[in-house]
Amino acid sequence: MAKLPENFLWGGAVAAHQLEGAWQTDGKGMSVADVMTAGANNVPREITDGVIPGKNYPNHEAIDFYHHYREDVKMFAELGLKAFRTSIAWTRIFPNGDDDQPNEAGLKFYDDLFDECLKYGIEPVITLAHFEMPYHLVQKYNGFSDRRVIDLFVRFAETCFKRYKDKVKYWMTFNEINNQSMFNNDFLMATNSGLIFKGNENREAAMYQAAHYELVASAKAVQLGHEINPDFQIGCMINFTPLYPLNAAPNNIMLAEKMMQRRYWFSDVHVNGVYPDNIEAYVTRKGYRQDITEEDRAVLKAGTVDYVGFSYYNSHTVALPEGKSIDDDLVPEDLIAQNPYVKVSDWDWPIDPVGLRYSLNWLNDRYHLPLFIVENGLGAYDKVEEDGSIHDPYRVEYLRAHIEEMEKAVELDGVNLMGYTPWGFIDLVSAGTGQMSKRYGFIYVDKDDDGNGTLKRSKKDSFDWYREVIKSNGENL
Ligand code: BG6
Repeated sequence: MAKLPENFLWGGAVAAHQLEGAWQTDGKGMSVADVMTAGANNVPREITDGVIPGKNYPNHEAIDFYHHYREDVKMFAELGLKAFRTSIAWTRIFPNGDDDQPNEAGLKFYDDLFDECLKYGIEPVITLAHFEMPYHLVQKYNGFSDRRVIDLFVRFAETCFKRYKDKVKYWMTFNEINNQSMFNNDFLMATNSGLIFKGNENREAAMYQAAHYELVASAKAVQLGHEINPDFQIGCMINFTPLYPLNAAPNNIMLAEKMMQRRYWFSDVHVNGVYPDNIEAYVTRKGYRQDITEEDRAVLKAGTVDYVGFSYYNSHTVALPEGKSIDDDLVPEDLIAQNPYVKVSDWDWPIDPVGLRYSLNWLNDRYHLPLFIVENGLGAYDKVEEDGSIHDPYRVEYLRAHIEEMEKAVELDGVNLMGYTPWGFIDLVSAGTGQMSKRYGFIYVDKDDDGNGTLKRSKKDSFDWYREVIKSNGENL
């Protein structure tokens, strides 16, 4: 079997709001992530109306990477990372999102962070918007439900592109932009588009309009980025969860196909610069996305991406509920069925390594662009032994199985893959639950769900394992 390319970007991924902390330091403004409380396993986070004294907001301190980044990056180098995926907190650069001038202290922080990475030969891979919209834009514009937010995002993107043009080559615009296809989920709507629903609005309609503005914003940013530095590689970023039909019943096959269309048109637009026919037909039939101009369509066409970044955690399985037809108004969450062939994690996330090979094939056949796995991993409870060691064979087992499937996709199926950056390789705040105890890392951080702990970093068993994987370019698993 052919090997992975020598320049394969083995790395690790995080997002600013989940590790930086320092939520009000050096002029940073409040983001939507700063008004999210801690949830628990199966208990969603609350999105409060501003910061309410006495509530636990885990992102405020997170793992205080803002003040620990030098020692952390040193450990990342020891791990052998070739790429470090993080995001730029929009609110460090434009605290309110619509300020006249960027905040120099925020810009300087990322200069220093990128310099520190480059010092060790670690390539920064940067997401511009990873669930961190300025809260002011949420309040004033209801996020991307307002067309004016397009230009505010583009200004943020342009500021970053110009400032870091000689330090950062790999960019992504919006993290998991397609999460909002599950429009009944408050967390996903707030983090993707800054939309907070107060009454009985038509959520699906609001989603299609807001997502359109985001896609236009993304395409404008891609165009500008390429003008600022033609060497930039600018990708999209989607959550890829293949939807399998529960069985061979033709209606379930068709349902899975329909639901895939409703989840992946976002990347169709990013890559092809046009909406797929099935979505045009759907929004026309429903009367959604009424504000779309010819100029928007031209922008989408001109600002297509260079690669497809995606996260892969699991697959889901769907079945048509009794008495329903495929063309009814179907709520995605109601269609999920238990897949009898896969186990689940402690958070009930299916564990399906073959699904990663399936995803890589699907995306490669559909888009014919380089792919980049920018998140993958297992959230698990870890136990610290008396001597401080942490034995996490379950994490190694999950990652090994996924890397094996990834390598088959490259070596046997001819998939063009740029890199692999497992999620949360240093423990951080879970996005979905706000927990610290849902850990993904090779590096343990001493902090619990109530915010207690020394923040001390230590290596889990998986640290040495992953270092060897990188060193051997994926040969020694
Ligand atoms: C992805 C996000 O959805 O999954 C990350 O891009 C997130 O921000 C990750 O942390 C894992 O999800 P969770 O809810 O376990 O943190």
